[in-house]
Amino acid sequence: MEEPIGVFDSGLGGISVLAQMIITLPQEKFLYYGDSKNAPYGEKTKEEVLNFSMNISKDLINRGAKALVVACNTATSAAITDLRQIYNLPIIGMEPAVKPAVNMENIQRVVVMATPFTLKEKKFHELVQNIDTNKEIVELPCPGLVQLIEQEGGAGPKVQAYLMQLFKRLSLGKGDVLVLGCTHYVFLTDCIQKNLNYQVPLIHGNVGTVLELKKQLKRHQMLSSENPLLGPGNSTEEKLRSHTKTQLQKRVQLMNSRQDLQFEKIGWDLLLYELRKLDKEELI
Ligand code: DGL
Repeated sequence: MEEPIGVFDSGLGGISVLAQMIITLPQEKFLYYGDSKNAPYGEKTKEEVLNFSMNISKDLINRGAKALVVACNTATSAAITDLRQIYNLPIIGMEPAVKPAVNMENIQRVVVMATPFTLKEKKFHELVQNIDTNKEIVELPCPGLVQLIEQEGGAGPKVQAYLMQLFKRLSLGKGDVLVLGCTHYVFLTDCIQKNLNYQVPLIHGNVGTVLELKKQLKRHQMLSSENPLLGPGNSTEEKLRSHTKTQLQKRVQLMNSRQDLQFEKIGWDLLLYELRKLDKEELI
């Protein structure tokens, strides 16, 4: 099936998931919608987030999306059940990667950074209750952080100051793992590491989400057939070459509710930044 996959987030955060999708599913096309005009969702009511998510999903499906990825932990908590009731197509959501974190070796404490909304929702409490572990799970709400990431297009000076204060209050060390339970925070991995006194492992749900998408597309025979013009070949050199904006524009459309060109540029910059990071990880 050659139709695109629809992806959305409250703003720029889902671009970190999109980058993983571009790498894992090189034959697929993507329609990305960031609702930056209404971000942050993490400080809105459930009804508001549900409404935004419903409208965006409808629009993506009208534009031909064959599957939906809710690339936002907050929107998933608010809307995934309703979306799955209404639409008969694969709909993949996100949750903070607490399950893989508790299974990591030499870990005693799992610290979950997320929006206040995600942490207070029923979905998160059920997730934690259903995990059979004696490890400590600590909630670390980060009000205002998404807004700063949107403003600075990643880890600018205000984001750095925020993180410095955050980790001053909660000192992390040996035996801890930090879960990035918001797709925006994935852009901050380098900056978070710099602000920690100890090299605490960081974990997020992007890879798991994308593998689940792949599994579902395969199960429903919805994977795009091979198209050498769209995806990269096998060599690393070919892969790196295909991650230029011009190449990506053949398979990725970035849309945003803040329709200004500067914002569109920030979206592309973040996508290319994240792809470079993932390409480098692959080479290591
Ligand atoms: N990227 C969204 C998430 O994963 C951020 C939500 C917000 O806008 O507050 O939760």
